[in-house]
Amino acid sequence: MTYDFKIAAADKPTLYRDLASALEGLVAGESDAIANMANATGLIFETLPDVNWVGFYRNIGGELVLGPFQGRPACIRMTFDQGVCGAAAKTRQVQRVEDVHAFAGHIACDSASNSEIVFPLIRDGEVLGVLDIDSPKHARFDKEDEEGLRKVAEIMERVL
Ligand code: SME
Repeated sequence: MTYDFKIAAADKPTLYRDLASALEGLVAGESDAIANMANATGLIFETLPDVNWVGFYRNIGGELVLGPFQGRPACIRMTFDQGVCGAAAKTRQVQRVEDVHAFAGHIACDSASNSEIVFPLIRDGEVLGVLDIDSPKHARFDKEDEEGLRKVAEIMERVL
């Protein structure tokens, strides 16, 4: 079986609608969280331009532990008090950072990263982990990206 998800869209809402629908298709009927996270990172990494890292950190005993990702090897563990990922997990709010170098406590895994967006993944009131996406471009993620990726995060909250 081959998966060909070359998504070419004229505008961001269409791009994210197609991305969400491709993701729904990929995770449908699969209950293994690692398989679903792995395929989600592949799909997002292949689809979004100007992205150098896409991955999950899972909440294991109150610590964020590296999960499936695409990109360079990354920091393995973070507390909720560390990094942009920790801030997302702690505040339960999306962290959209236009310039990571200006974010106090940002953890640089890939020196190419200049902006970042991190979604907390929450189900039944519990923080399951976070979805982290990095870009070498400054201010890569705008409000439209946040709205589109929120749908992606919501899909993952159901299948982790
Ligand atoms: N920059 C993140 C750490 C993870 S890497 O970007 C893959 C942070 O500050 O939380």
